Amino acid sequence: MAETYPLLLGGEKKKTKETIPVRFPYTGELYCTVSQATNNDLKAAVTKAVSGFEKTRRLPSHARAGILENLADTIHRRAAELIDVMVMEGGKTRKFATTEVARAEVTVRTSAEEAKRVYGEIIPLDLSRDTEGRTGILRRFPLGPVAGIVPFNFPLNLACHKLAPALAAGNSVILKPASATPLSSLLLGEMALDAGVPPEAVSVVPCTGARAEVLARDPRVAFLSFTGSCAVGWHLREIAGRKKVGLELGGNAAVIVHEDANLPYAAQRIVTGGFTNAGQVCISVQRVLVHRKIYEELVEMIVAGTKALKVGDPRDPTTDLGPMIDRLKAEEAYRKVQEAIRQGARALIGGTLEGTMFAPTVLEGTTPAMRVNCEEVFAPVISVVPYDDFDEALRIANTGEYGLQVGIFTQNLNRAMRAYAEMDVGGVIVNDIPTFRTDQMPYGGAKGSGLGREGPRFAIEEMSELRLMVINRDGGI
Ligand code: SIN
Repeated sequence: MAETYPLLLGGEKKKTKETIPVRFPYTGELYCTVSQATNNDLKAAVTKAVSGFEKTRRLPSHARAGILENLADTIHRRAAELIDVMVMEGGKTRKFATTEVARAEVTVRTSAEEAKRVYGEIIPLDLSRDTEGRTGILRRFPLGPVAGIVPFNFPLNLACHKLAPALAAGNSVILKPASATPLSSLLLGEMALDAGVPPEAVSVVPCTGARAEVLARDPRVAFLSFTGSCAVGWHLREIAGRKKVGLELGGNAAVIVHEDANLPYAAQRIVTGGFTNAGQVCISVQRVLVHRKIYEELVEMIVAGTKALKVGDPRDPTTDLGPMIDRLKAEEAYRKVQEAIRQGARALIGGTLEGTMFAPTVLEGTTPAMRVNCEEVFAPVISVVPYDDFDEALRIANTGEYGLQVGIFTQNLNRAMRAYAEMDVGGVIVNDIPTFRTDQMPYGGAKGSGLGREGPRFAIEEMSELRLMVINRDGGI
């Protein structure tokens, strides 16, 4: 019998009648079930978070930092268990799950450090005779309960990107994990309690996306942080009322490889960026724009690198590429590839789907209008496209709805600077792929790809607000 895990409501474990089955994506077998929060549970989580906030907002910075240090230590100590969970609930390869746990530890530890440097400003206000003797003190205050909606593709680290800065800023937090991968968040919640977070200040409430709208609509939630699809993200913002909202949404990231690039390195990085986590990464390499002079050579290297990937069981520590999260998502991506092929594209390698196993695919002969280019594919699929002129490549890369990150391979500083100035994205990554992310850096999108920035220092700013105190030196005399 598969184990049933309770949800976490204001620090207390609760089993509910409704459960969510969690299946191992590689075989489809049942791994565990988790209790599902009802609408009333979600409202109760907010009520708890409101009273939890009365405690967290008063914690001094050393206490907030100390709790997060404890949590980072626990993630380190319980890494093996977290890796196992991510392999089983998300079908993440053991290699990649190991990287994610290490990243989660960095995210939490960096948040602990940032909790100690939420600085403010002294503002001179004596700019006219009338305001002589006045000084302003400006500093950040926590907002209140933060609701974090976590996606399946990084179930631990993206939960940490919501929970840790929220606590660092002095907020309480409610996590709503993806239905496919709730166990990572439940474990994280339990670890946060052990680390010393005031119990009412942490809830983890698995439920459907539709039900999570209760959190988005509740005016007592002060900040909603969502990572997931564009359609859902922008809809949540519409129903969120007056609360602040942070959105980390989708993309169809481009990489430009110019004729002066280090080709073996670029090819190796493109294979990593296109196929890691079965392409289920918002900044996965999707469109590869290659200068015509080096097109054939680079494409050959990419295809060779793709062929060398070990595809299969994610439990095997040598596997590079495992299953997609479920058949529905795999079939949706497969339809886009089939459609492109019907419209004239060719698969240089891959292009097949068996169950949830999508073979790493390199497409050639696509056009910008094909859905494999203009929509997010979120599968191990890349399109290689030749170009003649660097500015033309910038224009192609910049076209469309999305704007998360772009990669530019060139040795020429002027070209890199031009890309930085022209690209409407959250990040321009020079001599690397758009998939590059370290957890302290500001991360987020332009255009349809999102709102606000993650990364502990930047998320703390989003999850707090400025408050001014004006002191009249002479007023008390
Ligand atoms: C994402 O897919 O949204 C995040 C990517 C990352 O953290 O590496």
